Parts: sequence; structure tokens; C-alpha cells
Amino acid sequence: MTVTIRSFAKINLGLRIGAAREDGFHELLTVYQTIGLRDVVQVSVGRGNGIEIQCTDSRVPKDQSNTCCRIVEKAMAALRAKGRVVIDIEKRLPVQGGLGGASSNAVAALLGLERALKKTLPAEERLRIAAEVGSDLPLFLVGGTVLGVGRGEQVYPLEDLPGLACVVVTPEVGVSTPKAFAEWDRKLTLPAASDRMNELGRGFSAWLSQMYSGAPFRRGRRENPLLELVRAGIKNDFEEVVFPEYPELSEGKSALERAGAKYASLSGSGSTLYGLFTSKEAARGAEARLRKQGWAAQATVTLPRRGYWKRIFR
Ligand code: C5P
Repeated sequence: MTVTIRSFAKINLGLRIGAAREDGFHELLTVYQTIGLRDVVQVSVGRGNGIEIQCTDSRVPKDQSNTCCRIVEKAMAALRAKGRVVIDIEKRLPVQGGLGGASSNAVAALLGLERALKKTLPAEERLRIAAEVGSDLPLFLVGGTVLGVGRGEQVYPLEDLPGLACVVVTPEVGVSTPKAFAEWDRKLTLPAASDRMNELGRGFSAWLSQMYSGAPFRRGRRENPLLELVRAGIKNDFEEVVFPEYPELSEGKSALERAGAKYASLSGSGSTLYGLFTSKEAARGAEARLRKQGWAAQATVTLPRRGYWKRIFR
């Protein structure tokens, strides 16, 4: 049996880098949001043993280092299952793009494997295995609007934002996440790392409660989540180290803003940029305008949790 899974992308709505830890990771605070752009992952289990990765994109590793291989190996052991697992990845998302493509592919492989074997792991064990493979995997086991803390692997579902119109720009640059963290340490380690984390924490809290607690004349307005996001001054720290190295990414953010984005940002460590718009029409207009200017732009929507889980299996 072959199981087909939609492997959706994420963006980061704000990201703050905290102190470097003894284990080589950094403390992190971010809000992840799943979006409609996706890869497609197919999983089948047959006789024999081993794991095979099929993908026509030469940048995707086909060996043991592939995140799908790593998670399937762990899941097969945990499920005490045997067989040859073949994973086919139809790559549409950028590689090293800050959209969590490889992480999402791994979670899709895990979900597909469980279906193919007709066996499931307890939810806690899925989360544990996912976190062992990478900091950005567990969010895809929650979906929708997700708070990420720790090194980004500790995830909590937040009240979902409504589906927001979004344009994603994918420049042809691959940014290495470990290098971006190292650059942050070299250039910008600030003494009061925990104060900065607390500051963004307050920003998130103010932003997400404003719809209910804000001044009565503002309450209930449709554009509130977007306006409050801007007002709360929520930003992605990676822009500080990635934009100076790749000035075209900073230009991409400005291009999104000029095309009408109410909020624009780098996603993760990049190179993907996104803009949030007040309507689908505005996003489609921006997509056309940006393409004319030579940017690889795609209009999509943010995916709340229910829609995410409904659309994963097809
Ligand atoms: O967890 P993941 O495999 O995505 O991490 C890749 C690398 O990025 C880590 O080895 C580490 O160098 C860096 N990283 C970090 N702090 C985080 C997440 C990742 O320093 N919170």
C-alpha cells in the first residue's frame, strides 16, 4: 500500500534567539504558523529491509542524513516493525529555505509510515522522536498557530489565527541555519538575552490577547490580528545576521512591503520571505507585481490547525 501525505510548510511570526546552551543549541522563542504551500510525500512498505529515498531534486540527500530516513529508522524500531520502506518526495518547497521543508517531510514520512503499517505511536513518543531528528519537526505534529520554546522543539498549540492571505518569496539562495546561529553569536550576543526573550514573550501575549482585551473601538475588527502583529513590534532576529550577508533578501522584504504587505518578514533563517495581506485579492495582486519584478512569488494562505489536519491525508 502506498500512502500519500501533503507535507505543508511553516513560517515564523517573530523569532528571538536567546543564549547559546552547553549542548550547542540556542534558546529560542517563536510562533510557528503552518501555510498552504507543500511538498508531497509518498510512503510504501514492502518485503525486505532498509530505507530508500526517491526524489528528482538533486539537492535533497538520498542517504542516511535525510530527515525522512532518520525518523523512519527510529519509528520502525519503536513500532518493532520490519520491511523495506520507500519514501518518494515531490519537492516543491525550497531546500534550506526557512519554511521547514525537510522537517515537514520527515513528519509526513512518520505519519505515512504509521498508516502504511496500520500501527500508531503514542502522541508523546511521536513528539519525542520528532524532536530527536530536529528542532523544527514537532511543530508539524501540532499544526496551525504554534508556540515554540526551548530550542524550538517544545511546542504548544496557540489559539489559531484565522486564515490569512500570504505571499511567499523564495530567492535562489540557501542559508545554512547553523551558520546563521554562529554568525549571531559572533556579532550580536547581547548581555541581557533573557530580557530580550521576555520582551518578545510580552509582545506575543499582547498581540494574541488584544482581540479580546483591546480598547472597545478596536475590538472585533477583522484586520486586528495583522494590525496588532505590526503594533506589537514582533520581529525575526535572523534578519540582523542574514540581511547584511544577503542584501537581496532585505530588498525582497521591501518589495513585499511596497506590494502592499501589512507585515513582512524573513521566515526562520531564510532565505524565504513572506508578507501577510488583508485579503486574497491583495495577495494575488502582489504576487503578480512581484513576479513582474523578477521575484519568485507565490500567493497562499495560512493554515489553521483543523484545515491542516484535514488536508494532510488525501
Ligand atoms: O535541530 P536542527 O537539526 O534543526 O538544528 C541544526 C543546527 O542549528 C544545530 O546543530 C545548531 O547548530 C543550530 N541550532 C541552534 N539552536 C536552535 C536550533 C538549531 O543553535 N535552537
